Amino acid sequence: MGPAAASPVPQRPGDLARRKQAGLAITVLTAWDALSAALVGEAGADAVLVGDSLAMTVLGHATTLPVTLEEMLHHCRAVGRGLSGLASPPSIICDLPFLSYQCGIDAAVAAAGRVLKESPAAAVKLEGAEPETLAVIDRLVRTGIPVMGHLGLTPQAVHQLGYRRQANEPAAQEKLRRQADALEAAGCFALVLEHVPAELASGISRALRIPVIGIGAGDGCDGQVRVTADLLGLTPRQPPFSPPLIDGRGQAVEALRGWIGAQQAARSAPPTTPAAPAAPHC
Ligand code: KIV
Repeated sequence: MGPAAASPVPQRPGDLARRKQAGLAITVLTAWDALSAALVGEAGADAVLVGDSLAMTVLGHATTLPVTLEEMLHHCRAVGRGLSGLASPPSIICDLPFLSYQCGIDAAVAAAGRVLKESPAAAVKLEGAEPETLAVIDRLVRTGIPVMGHLGLTPQAVHQLGYRRQANEPAAQEKLRRQADALEAAGCFALVLEHVPAELASGISRALRIPVIGIGAGDGCDGQVRVTADLLGLTPRQPPFSPPLIDGRGQAVEALRGWIGAQQAARSAPPTTPAAPAAPHC
């Protein structure tokens, strides 16, 4: 019998903090199914976020609000299968969808607990730092559930904030600094800062011990997170702070159009004259 295959050693959410301490870059990419997870896993992302942005990029909703906990679990499981071939799969962080953590601490623990029990995710992410949210985070962390915070442009509050850059005025910047401190004190293992001024984000990154992962928050954060569908140019319109690396949509449509055209051309080509029957052997 040959040597037993080494079982995969999954990374942990807390490894991101070690990367910050060591001064190493941190990259987080979103995934929504086994195919996208295999791509970002093979590319070497430090963590994979099953973000509720999948409501818009994959499920076709206008905002992130309609996606349900059941749907997030379904996508998380597919992402886990896509990473399962890797020797050291990155940890999976799952967004808690709108209204799964805003209706009381017990309901939030039940929702986050389902994510850890019923999917391969090792952590959850939730938005905001209002007192009720801090109380939820405190309880989740004390229950053994790692939590990533998310401040700045928080898409679940789109009907209040829109998709505009946040914290442009000194008072709002001071509030964001206080909220970032509060999230660290509540036990978050990392913080996403979305669409805020670069100097504010780099100052918060220096001030916090936990890693600050930016998107549209300048280059001075400890790490960067991107929606993979945006980076690959697959979404119809990318946000200005997340330009595509390739025109994936254009290239895919062109390739598919070429294939369809070839099928149509093959059908409409004049039939070839059938070969004359071979002369019988005497
Ligand atoms: O849902 C998501 O993809 C996110 C990222 C933009 C950080 O929250």
